[in-house]
Amino acid sequence: MSAWRASRPGPVDFVPTMGGLHQGHAELIRRAVACCPEPGSVVVSVYINPLQFGEGEDFERYPRTFEADCLLAGQAGATAIWCPDERQIYPEGVASGWRLQAPSALLSVLCGPSRPGHFDGVVTVVSRLLALVQPRQLWLGEKDWQQLTIVRRMVSDLGLSVRVRGCATVRESDGLAASSRNLYLLPAERRSAVAIGVALRGAATQLQNRLVGQNDVLIQLRRQLETAGLEVEYVEVVDPSTLQPAQETQSLRLLAAAVCSGSTRLIDHIFVMTRSPIVAIDGPAGAGKSTVTRAFAERMGLLYLDTGAMYRAVTLWVQEHRADPANADAVERLLNGLEVDLSPLRNGVQTVFVNGRDVTEAIRDPKVTAAVSLVAAHACVRALLTRQQQRLGEKGGLVAEGRDIGTAVFPDAELKVFLTATPEERARRRAKDLQMRGHSVPALSELEAQIVERDRLDSTRTIAPLVQAQDATELITDGMGIEAVIDALEDLFRRRVAEEVWPTPER
Ligand code: CDP
Repeated sequence: MSAWRASRPGPVDFVPTMGGLHQGHAELIRRAVACCPEPGSVVVSVYINPLQFGEGEDFERYPRTFEADCLLAGQAGATAIWCPDERQIYPEGVASGWRLQAPSALLSVLCGPSRPGHFDGVVTVVSRLLALVQPRQLWLGEKDWQQLTIVRRMVSDLGLSVRVRGCATVRESDGLAASSRNLYLLPAERRSAVAIGVALRGAATQLQNRLVGQNDVLIQLRRQLETAGLEVEYVEVVDPSTLQPAQETQSLRLLAAAVCSGSTRLIDHIFVMTRSPIVAIDGPAGAGKSTVTRAFAERMGLLYLDTGAMYRAVTLWVQEHRADPANADAVERLLNGLEVDLSPLRNGVQTVFVNGRDVTEAIRDPKVTAAVSLVAAHACVRALLTRQQQRLGEKGGLVAEGRDIGTAVFPDAELKVFLTATPEERARRRAKDLQMRGHSVPALSELEAQIVERDRLDSTRTIAPLVQAQDATELITDGMGIEAVIDALEDLFRRRVAEEVWPTPER
């Protein structure tokens, strides 16, 4: 692998498998190929990792179909298939080598309790494979959502330099989730197994409608699976990102089950979504929020809501009427005849209208920038725009950026990010932006002082001040290019919202 790696220019995308390749693997390979830049390569490994099998599990009888695997991998577009032996993976022997340990909170749910040591075996082998292959991206299926979550956490908590990408579960024509273990099923067992998907879908609809309580739905589901001749190991509803028990009120939950059909253990799940996802991106002035949020919205097929533009539009209106932006009463009187509208994003541009007039350019004027924080602090302005933003976001399917999105506008957003950068970096970005828009550019020190002052006003106002929401992830973007920030947002989004339930639109 090292020699092969050294002889290849370009990045490598990596699909680790235990062989027994099926259409689910083929899809991972195809996605990796489609995403791998020239002259990159896609490597598939086939290694049945003894460390992740427990006593009495199916290590001995696990499908070994190497010839067929080579064919399938090749047809799906893989550059190479790599079949390491045990000594390459565990030079000190399986029993006496290093072991990684996943955090116990991720092991106390779903498959964790019934498969002690399994996920530790998985993270150990994945970390070893990553060290040998050194890929740019690691591709895993969403079918094993707990495994995917644990590997993602390992990569981010240990700071490994690889992106983890997930693919939606591929199903066979009868709806059974593709799995190497399906090969074990006798015809009658196979017929029973089809009930898993059917029962999960039925239960998900009930959870979605919220007419029956979560516990009752789970009891019914268990009964239904048993009636189909399956032995139930668990049925659980968890938060997709933390894997901890989900609240009934959550708009996105994971309903998962493990059963045995005959002697074959099968797992499957379904996402229960009561409204489309919402992403909240907050942060101080000049952090590059609008640029990356706009691009992120396009990449993920979400609507884009630039709430700052709405505050800017009100500010422009106030200035055009020569009112004092600091005078709450004067501002309030002007709100009566005011309509602020945003057009959906087209080619990366969102048009902003004030009473039907296009003010997209005008609201970026430094004069507006200088007064916007004063106007945005008034209770009447906040109440009006917050209500309007919440109306726009009722159905979800959007990413909103501003100062108070995660705290006041959409406190139940699936993903909250606090996007920031040092004031020096933000001043540099602001200077570039002004230059591009054809405005005169003040000295960097002056720009920095303006930014710091606006942050102070925004974060000290009484109503909905700029603060990082408790459940927000901070993303400090100094030294990160735009693409890298968008990738990071996508990765955070995908930890919570599966492809399965919100597919990435074709580019
Ligand atoms: O200049 P920059 O692009 O960083 O800011 P913006 O997103 O255009 O927002 C301009 C101003 O609107 C902010 O400084 C805040 O005073 C105000 N704002 C707010 O109070 N709440 C929001 N959700 C968004 C913006």
